[in-house]
Amino acid sequence: MPYENIIFEVTEGIAVITFNRPKALNALNQALFKEFSEALDTIAGNEEIRVLVLTGAGEKAFVAGADITELAQLSPLRTKALSEKGHAVLLKLETLPQPVIAAVNGFALGGGNEIALACDFIYASETAQFGLPEINLGLIPGYGGTQRLPRLIGKSMAKEMIFTGKMISAAEAKEIGLVNRVCAPEALMETVMKTAKVIAAKGRVPLRAAKQAINDGINADLKTGISIEVNHFAMTMISGDAKEGMSAFLQKRKAQFNGKLDD
Ligand code: CAA
Repeated sequence: MPYENIIFEVTEGIAVITFNRPKALNALNQALFKEFSEALDTIAGNEEIRVLVLTGAGEKAFVAGADITELAQLSPLRTKALSEKGHAVLLKLETLPQPVIAAVNGFALGGGNEIALACDFIYASETAQFGLPEINLGLIPGYGGTQRLPRLIGKSMAKEMIFTGKMISAAEAKEIGLVNRVCAPEALMETVMKTAKVIAAKGRVPLRAAKQAINDGINADLKTGISIEVNHFAMTMISGDAKEGMSAFLQKRKAQFNGKLDD
């Protein structure tokens, strides 16, 4: 299906979605969100896709937040509906069966920062800037910023970012654990793709199990989290990936994971 607000490409099992409204710094209008949501459904249902990478078109922005032109027109009830819809899409992103890497190439503000937070991890260009500036608009984050950011970087740091609305550099974002790796702008995609390829060569079953165990466990108490891990660990044992991985080790050869769910 042709998209107007995103670019959706798949190469060798790695999908790349590029948010593509560079004139508006890739701000999230409802049309873009709808296309993004549809592309996520396609990816979730396609077992050939092993990893998803998200990035922004142009040199300036990953995503500069919700589209303020649209937001400013909404009644409180429509705002509630918009936020609920946004949350549903970001939950879909967070729980996508495939690992997701955010390649943050510029501004990741408001809803843009919140999209990155719903990815499994973030690599950023040295020129990237992160922030939740909603307070400057008289608002608060509406796509998960008050919930995912404190879980990732701690309550105090999250409060400082949300209360001040200030942007932080990629280097600061790495220091506080928001970003895993910072690259020169021209090396960002290459570095992200290198990591994506490493992950794409692993078994699909253990990747799914690890993602679910981490995501479900992080919001549970330790005892519940441990039981989540035990169950996923035991389930991975019956997969073709586990048979192949352990036989390959014992036969002193490199494992070839076929990524099938029905072995
Ligand atoms: N919505 C709509 N349009 C936006 C936008 C946004 N979030 N961010 C940037 N744009 C548009 C600008 O209006 C401008 O359009 P025109 O050329 O037609 O005037 C164009 O993108 C380029 O932007 P600037 O001229 O402002 O570029 P700059 O380099 O001077 O500044 C910036 C860059 C600091 C990112 C600035 O654009 C900015 O502050 N943007 C808004 C960021 C923001 O507040 N995001 C939060 C939105 S609310 C939200 O996301 C709520 C939620 O959680 C759901």
